[in-house]
Formats: sequence, C-alpha cells, structure tokens
Amino acid sequence: MTGRGLRVSGELQVPGDKSISHRSLICSALAEGTSRVRGVLPSADVHSTAGVLRALGVEVPALAPSMVITGAGRRSLRAPHSDLDCGNSGTTSRLMAGVVAGSGLTARFTGDASLSRRPMRRVKRPLEMMGATVELPQHGGLPMTVRGAPLTTVEWRSDTPSAQVKSCILLAALCAGVEATVREPSRSRDHTERMLASQGAEVWVNEDAVLLFAGQRLAPLDLTVPGDPSSAAFFAALAALAPAGELRALGVGVNETRTGFFAALREMGASIELEDARREGGEPVAELRITAGAALHGITVGGPAIPTLIDELPLLACVGAYAEGETRVTDAAELRVKESDRIAAVVQNLRTLGADADELPDGFVVRGTRPRLRGMVTTYGDHRLAMAFGVLATLPGNEIAIDDRECVAVSYPAFWSDLARVTER
Ligand code: S3P
Repeated sequence: MTGRGLRVSGELQVPGDKSISHRSLICSALAEGTSRVRGVLPSADVHSTAGVLRALGVEVPALAPSMVITGAGRRSLRAPHSDLDCGNSGTTSRLMAGVVAGSGLTARFTGDASLSRRPMRRVKRPLEMMGATVELPQHGGLPMTVRGAPLTTVEWRSDTPSAQVKSCILLAALCAGVEATVREPSRSRDHTERMLASQGAEVWVNEDAVLLFAGQRLAPLDLTVPGDPSSAAFFAALAALAPAGELRALGVGVNETRTGFFAALREMGASIELEDARREGGEPVAELRITAGAALHGITVGGPAIPTLIDELPLLACVGAYAEGETRVTDAAELRVKESDRIAAVVQNLRTLGADADELPDGFVVRGTRPRLRGMVTTYGDHRLAMAFGVLATLPGNEIAIDDRECVAVSYPAFWSDLARVTER
C-alpha cells in the first residue's frame, strides 16, 4: 500500500500568513506613527508589496522577523518614478491598485508572465465607479495603469467572493477618505477589515457586507502575524496521509474565513485538533495537532465553503487520490484564474502520474484509487502545485519529480527543508 512506512513527527513553526503580511505592510504605511510587526512572511510575494510601497515613498526596511515601519498617514504616498513591479503577486497588484487610486496618484503596475495574464477588470470596474481611471490591455491583465482622482462613495456588489477585490475597494476608500460598502455572495477572508478595525477605523461587518465609514485615520499596528493556515495545510495533509505518527503546527491562524481545508480533512476522516486557542492582533490563533493513520473517504465541497479553502483546493485534489470513493469540488471556477489554471493543472498532473481525475467547468472529480504515482509534475511556476505534489512525493511507493521546486519561494521559502524534517521512513 502506498504510504506504508512513512512516519511523521515533530513540531513545526509555519511561516507568517501571506495575506496578513501584505496587509500589515500596507496598513503600517498608511498609519500615523510607528508600527511594530513581528513574524512577517519573508517570501517573494511579500517582497513585491514591500518594493511597491518603497517605490511610493514609504521607508520599508528589509523584511525581518521584527519590523518597525513609520507611516505618515493615508495621504502621504508619492507618485512613483518607475513601474510598480508586483512579481507573481495578485494581492500586491489588486490591493495596491486601490491604494494608488485613493491616493490620487498615477502608476503603472507590471508583473511576471503568470500575473500579467490574471484578470484585472474586477478592480477596474469598482475603481472607475469611484472616479479613478484604469487602463488595461485587451486581455484584461497587466500592465495596468491606474490614474487616481478625488473618489466618491461606493456601494459595490461583487458577483464572486474575492478578498482582493473587497480590500482594493476598502483601501481606495480609506485613502480617499470616503465611505465604501462591499457586498459579496459569500464571505471572503476578512483580514483587511479586522486590521483596519484594530487600528481604530470605524468598520461595520455582517454576514455578506462590509462598510468602512468616511474619514478614517489609522493608528499604528502592534502585531504578531499568525502562522499561515494555507502553509500549515500541506502538513495537515501529509499527516492525514501518513500511516503513523503525529504532527503539531504551532501558532496557526484559525480565522474561520480560512480554515475550510481543516474542516474538509476532518470530514474525510482525519484527526485534527485545535489546542490553546487564543487571539493575537485581532486574529484567532491555535496549535494544530494532526494524528496520522486515519482511513480517509471522499467528500463533496461547494457553495459558500469554497472561499474558505480556495488556495487549498489543489491539495484537496491530491489528498482525494488516497481517499475511498469520490472527492468532488464545484463552484470553484475562480481556480482557473489563480497563479495557474489550477483546475486544469492539478487534474492533468494527477492523470499524468497515474491517478483517476476529471475536470469540471468549475471544479474537479478525483476517484480515490490509492495509486502509485510516477512521473514529472509540471507546476507552471505555481507554488501551491509544487507543494501539493511535494506532499505526495514523500509517500513511499511514489516516484514523483517536480519541474520547478524553487517556485515555493512565492509563499513558503523553507517548505522543502520543513518537509524533510518532519518525515522519516
Ligand atoms: C488573497 C485572496 C484570495 C487568495 C489569494 C490571497 C488575499 O484571492 O486566493 O491567494 O490575500 O486577499 P481572491 O480574493 O481573489 O479570491
């Protein structure tokens, strides 16, 4: 049986949450005074946000375990002298588009080949409704030129849940000093509204809407960034697939807009316990204890749960190959416009390696056959694909090579060494 002989053990300090790290730099820059932020994720995507803020005149020190950033308020950014290079980071491009528009500045956003293909009309539409101008090439991706202007109050209804779009609008409104309401069909991650509220901004939130009142000023942050649940997810999956041992992931963010993958794994039969639940900087945090040796079965995931595990769906597909029966995901067409087309990419790779999987227009079906997987994974430079298949590559009996191992630097630079540390055969 594939997986026999693998034993997991140890404790893991997963790196800082990527979404919260981006926001901590941006919200420190827009605050009045000196912020102290610990545990910022030093990954390529977060470097992109730091670089864009520097180009806008903010003194952001090198990313370090403990950072001090002095902001001069929401009107303090200045026009850049060069393009704003967002690298591979959708969060950088969309959140900073809002900041630039609300600050009344003009800037041209660029990125790598993957980011340049990703849809930006989703931020163009609300920003133009507020009064900015956003120029895009025919295909709707980058380069994107944002021309700020005095913005007006907006009430925006998104057709797809997206924290990046919601945050773009909130940050534009914050910088412009106007009111914004954003409604979503289901709730996306809520780190921006939590952080703004923790800095004293008046924010009103209910199940499907967020309202930021006009004229808010931000106090400095004093924050420890929680461990990233999307990074912890790879180790939860590894422990769930292993026949023996136990893993503990320390200080993991367990905000309920992010924990859908842990709920899904539990529903599949895995044993995941939360210990020492507490709050840090307005976010819930806990230790995760995952016990190996579970018999997993397939599940169906769709609807409002999707945003809570959107980045973990390629990993869920990989786990599905080792779960009894069928694992089916629907309502996740957004996966097609992430760092790669994650529906096509995960299904194609699973099939190439010998698993039984099919694409759906808005998701996938994986039939769990507990296969012995062999072959080369094509990551398309997508960090989450590299790590999801990296987990499967540790299962004895599998012989999986990965074409681009370095791309994990986008979100989890130490992934391969952490993976090696907790696995013994
Ligand atoms: C993110 C939001 C999600 C997620 C991305 C990070 C964020 O994207 O997939 O990795 O930090 O706001 P969408 O909001 O576009 O779904």
